[in-house]
Amino acid sequence: MPERSDQDTYRAVDAFVLETLFAAPDPALEVALADTAGAGMPQIQVTPPQARLLAILCRAVNAHRILEFGTLGGYSTIVMARTLPADGLLTTLEFDPGHAAVAWRNIERAGLADMVDLRVGPALDSLPLLAAEGAGHFDFVFIDADKANTPAYFAWSLDRTRPGGLILADNVIRHGRIIDPDADPDAAAQRTFHEYLADEPRVTATTIQTVGAKGHDGFTLALVGE
Ligand code: SAH
Ligand code: DHB
Ligand code: MG
Repeated sequence: MPERSDQDTYRAVDAFVLETLFAAPDPALEVALADTAGAGMPQIQVTPPQARLLAILCRAVNAHRILEFGTLGGYSTIVMARTLPADGLLTTLEFDPGHAAVAWRNIERAGLADMVDLRVGPALDSLPLLAAEGAGHFDFVFIDADKANTPAYFAWSLDRTRPGGLILADNVIRHGRIIDPDADPDAAAQRTFHEYLADEPRVTATTIQTVGAKGHDGFTLALVGE
């Protein structure tokens, strides 16, 4: 048998899961991915199995209010917004106007324009506006934008997430770079993030390493307490 790299195996297992659990066609998501690629945007959206985990978690907390950092082409946005009830709202923050334009077309085509509030600009600039508008009582927060700001996004979100709500931060492991003390700023921020979480009594948090089509990475999931 020819030698197979670990990454080949991770990719093949993800392919098997796709062929089995994700066999049903999903035209809105397929066209969203095609347009994201066609626009020359990075292909760094969550994988379908990861997206379904987001949807399961949104459903599990009966999410009416969702906050997302990092829209890209709207793939994770669409998957999460689909779980919302008719009076639900997903607010998603995207720095890049080109990404936001592609995402908005995808969100409209998925029939979700009424459920999604897309704010263009650096997320740190959008947050004070959201606060002034009284945004909050989030049930689910997905942090997936510029990795160096994950701790800041988490701290802001924690103050505005209801008890029993969940906050998930993507890409905290990045091929193990989190354990390198001389890591690049993105990885160093994940170390800071963990040290901060260890001292934050309002959450119960864990970090799960993952492998798959996107390699070795992982996410932190935090349950907000009373
Ligand atoms: N959540 C998406 C992927 C997001 S990729 C999905 O899984 O489908 C990360 C996105 O964050 C990119 O589109 C990037 O432009 C955006 N981003 C980078 N810096 C940002 C910032 N400061 N504020 C908001 N978004 C930012
Ligand atoms: C990158 C960003 C992501 O959100 C991700 O899931 C993978 C990679 C990146 O910036 O390289
Ligand atoms: Mg990500």
